[in-house]
Amino acid sequence: MAEETKLELDDIQSGVLRPRPTPYAATYVLFRIDDRNAGCELMRRLRCVLASAAESESSERDTWVSVALSYQGLKALGVPAASLQSFSPEFQQGMAARAKSLGDSGESSPEHWERPLGSTDVHVVVTAVAPSTERLEAAFERARKSYQELKGIAAIWRQDCHVLPGEREAFGFKDGISHPAIEGSGIPGTNPHERPLKPGEFVLGYPDEMSEASRIPQPDILGRNGSYVVFRKLHQRVAEFRRYLKANAVAAEEEELIAAKMMGRWRSGAPLALCPMHDDPALGADAQRNNAFLFKNDDAIGYKTPCGSHIRRMNPRDSVVAGVVRIHRMIRRGTSYGPLLPEGVLEDDGIDRGLMFAFVGAHLGRQFEFVQTEWMNDSAFFGGSPGRDPVSGAADGSGTFDIPKRPLRRQLHGLPRFVVTRGGEYCFMPGLRALEWLGNLTT
Ligand code: HEM
Repeated sequence: MAEETKLELDDIQSGVLRPRPTPYAATYVLFRIDDRNAGCELMRRLRCVLASAAESESSERDTWVSVALSYQGLKALGVPAASLQSFSPEFQQGMAARAKSLGDSGESSPEHWERPLGSTDVHVVVTAVAPSTERLEAAFERARKSYQELKGIAAIWRQDCHVLPGEREAFGFKDGISHPAIEGSGIPGTNPHERPLKPGEFVLGYPDEMSEASRIPQPDILGRNGSYVVFRKLHQRVAEFRRYLKANAVAAEEEELIAAKMMGRWRSGAPLALCPMHDDPALGADAQRNNAFLFKNDDAIGYKTPCGSHIRRMNPRDSVVAGVVRIHRMIRRGTSYGPLLPEGVLEDDGIDRGLMFAFVGAHLGRQFEFVQTEWMNDSAFFGGSPGRDPVSGAADGSGTFDIPKRPLRRQLHGLPRFVVTRGGEYCFMPGLRALEWLGNLTT
């Protein structure tokens, strides 16, 4: 048997590998670097606040602060041109420039994004995540000292996030269930049927699913043990989602079934793959069982979990699809912002609510961009009828969603856009030695 790759956990930011805690509170703060020396000083100070993945067994293991930089941020620090050009092309362009292929059109297009998201001002993203608001505040306080009174650094945006009742996202589904297993990380995945993925899928400088040694950003000390991270703020139209379910349900009790077919899970988190006919809240809450399933052998057609449902599109597991599923996996962390729309309310109250996402991986193109473009907003990969992801796809009101059923499939029509992009950025989360290297660029 091939030997398992050892990860240099003491050089990897703890925020890269850990699933977010449940319950959670989180904050995302963006910075602009106006002065290069101050930017380097910020890197040096933040280095002292960050924990490595090796320290994650401490009492603080559910609480972390992480730092990531955009391409513009690396430039503002004075990273040499040859090095900048060694980063992935998608990262160099930035998320706003990729809008067309990501389906960020109409209301989701960058000209409607929340400022300064999508602008060249976004240089550094500091994220803090903890199991409670009190612990978050304590952790963030340490980071705050790094930039307070540092002239030449401006905090330009902040988004606070917190768990909603029942650990659900705004549409009402339990979130934070499925995570990949990563070889050598010591963190088990949630699906016992998924073979751990090679660490180079998530951390740069290690063998990945395609090769023994992928190219990494240069110099080596900068690229090694870093990861790309995709930040995305997604607004959720909860009232519209509820109205759509109501309008399409033949009887009131069918609303929950339609919602489950669109997601691939009941709102409790119980997967249709394991309980297709009715919800099973005990299964939804059971971390040992709620992600222990595959699709191919007993549900190739999608009678239980439609091939077009959100979770089957986002991770087709062993389904027969064009391409290789394992090279499109990501570490996914969603944290909710805004209050819950009270139960039963069908009119929008004008309050912004949704998810702040962080997708971590070593390959922006074949991971996040591929999933967003091919799996979310196309259907060719599973040979399905034309359509997009019924939950988070870039719908234009004309889309359909197929629910395989005997003797005749059910088809939903006129899918509106339930999710609007408010902005985001591609960033690079350096390893801890790389952060020191960045901090010393001016010396
Ligand atoms: C507001 C928009 C979105 C909502 C409300 C949403 C909601 C959910 C929920 C409730 C789950 C099931 C719980 C879990 O497995 O943790 C899930 C799974 C997942 N979502 Fe989303 N999601 C959204 C956008 C996205 C986007 C933009 C992507 C990637 C481009 C994505 C990728 C995934 C993946 C990879 C999974 C795990 C699938 C699996 O392994 O079974 N989601 N999502």
